[in-house]
Amino acid sequence: MFSGLLSTTVLCLVTSSFALVTRSTPEVGEKFGLYAYGDSLGGVPLFYADGKAFVGDSSNSTSSSIYNVTFERTSASSSSPWLANPNGTTAADTNWSEKMLYIPSSSASSDQIGFISNAGDNEITTGFVFYGQSVMVETAPGDYSTSFYVRPSSQGEGIYSLLWNVTGDDTIISISLRSVEPSNA
Ligand SMILES: *[C@@H]1O[C@H](CO)[C@@H](O)[C@H](O)[C@H]1NC(C)=O
Ligand SMILES: *[C@@H]1O[C@H](CO)[C@@H](O)[C@H](O)[C@H]1NC(C)=O
Ligand SMILES: *[C@@H]1O[C@H](CO)[C@@H](O)[C@H](O)[C@H]1NC(C)=O
Ligand SMILES: *[C@@H]1O[C@H](CO)[C@@H](O)[C@H](O)[C@H]1NC(C)=O
Ligand SMILES: *[C@@H]1O[C@H](CO)[C@@H](O)[C@H](O)[C@H]1NC(C)=O
Repeated sequence: MFSGLLSTTVLCLVTSSFALVTRSTPEVGEKFGLYAYGDSLGGVPLFYADGKAFVGDSSNSTSSSIYNVTFERTSASSSSPWLANPNGTTAADTNWSEKMLYIPSSSASSDQIGFISNAGDNEITTGFVFYGQSVMVETAPGDYSTSFYVRPSSQGEGIYSLLWNVTGDDTIISISLRSVEPSNA
């Protein structure tokens, strides 16, 4: 009886500290995934395909170069890029490393969010911050935006392109990008 009570208590402690860890902002240096939450999208994982960011089941993607990715912050400052790495240990997973997440600048011809090693004028790799576990972008000092969208992609069933600051498109879905893994995953 006593030992039964004790193990129940221990179990509760373990469960609650696990919940605490998974519900807080990822630490600097901690690896995390990103997931899209929105209308009919209950935490769909973000993945890499041919240098671009998509959400969906990566195993349904018809792109040629597909990687599940984790992100890492090198500092808590919004001026530090977020680094992506393939989430795996196979030979192909070492083909690239530490690509920066970028959003297109307002003068870019595309709305597509992606990954890049050397950013040009149209790829903004800084400004990413967490508000709790939600991603925001500091677009000017003190100005935060969450203009994340997805659009159904032709690159596979249930695959969406991840976009920034889109207007005038009926096929887009507004999403929030969060580090929270869906509970049914
Ligand atoms: C990375 O891979 C591990 C092991 O397969 C898995 O548990 C984890 O959920 C993955 N993370 C992401 C963000 O895909
Ligand atoms: C990527 O993650 C999905 C789950 O989101 C999993 O089904 C798939 O096997 C993973 N692919 C690789 C190459 O690890
Ligand atoms: C990654 O590397 C593997 C093994 O070296 C190679 O077979 C594969 O074609 C490469 N994939 C890409 C997308 O470059
Ligand atoms: C969104 O796009 C508009 C029009 O191009 C631009 O004026 C604005 O600065 C952009 N906003 C963000 C947050 O990128
Ligand atoms: C992946 O594709 C299969 C059919 O090929 C489909 O049944 C499944 O729903 C797709 N997954 C997602 C997450 O849309």
